[in-house]
Amino acid sequence: MKFIIIWRNEIVFSTLASASDPSHLQDFCIAINDTTNGVFVNGKFCKDPKLANPEDFFFSGLNIPGNTSNQLGSKVTLINADKISGLNTLGISLVRVDYAPHGLNPPHTHPRATEILTVVEGTLYVGFVTSNPDNRFITKVLYPGDVFVFPIGLIHFQFNIGNTNAVAFSSLSSQNPGIITIGKAVFGSEPAINPDVLVKAIQLDKNIVNQLQSLFWPLNN
Ligand code: GLV
Ligand code: MN
Repeated sequence: MKFIIIWRNEIVFSTLASASDPSHLQDFCIAINDTTNGVFVNGKFCKDPKLANPEDFFFSGLNIPGNTSNQLGSKVTLINADKISGLNTLGISLVRVDYAPHGLNPPHTHPRATEILTVVEGTLYVGFVTSNPDNRFITKVLYPGDVFVFPIGLIHFQFNIGNTNAVAFSSLSSQNPGIITIGKAVFGSEPAINPDVLVKAIQLDKNIVNQLQSLFWPLNN
């Protein structure tokens, strides 16, 4: 960026440099000095652009409904840089979400992305909660053609309140948005969080915490 500065009646040109750290593309990227065991980067390595071909930018099959036969009655199909290698460094990805009648995409956050969702079929009760201290619940019922935004990092969900299947598509502002499902992260971590921590944090009886931990234990999911 060039600036013109007038200093003692003389015109001086000045250049300002600006720099920032790269956006996170994964949970962490621990620095190493010794590269003998391989090197990873924040994201993925780049192919020689001269060798790029249409397949690098292509995915087929998002017309196929996800299998919603599970406890939640929903299925998220994520198209990120693992599925379309040409997405690397472009800061965007896509999901298709299928919901059985009364199916739920449970409360979760994307640590690296804002999400913009559009309903194609069905009726969704959606919402997100703002950060502390207000924790405002912002919610709406969506119909086909409606669009809703879930700001980066905030806990959100979608619940199919109709008696028919529902389908939505979302774009997310990262090639690897990440998903943290709240119940599973808190009660189904591996190894498990010491129950005393959860008893105190959520003010629950220890038996209930044990019950929740066995319900969410990774081997049960
Ligand atoms: C929807 O919120 C999704 O991230 O799948
Ligand atoms: Mn989401």
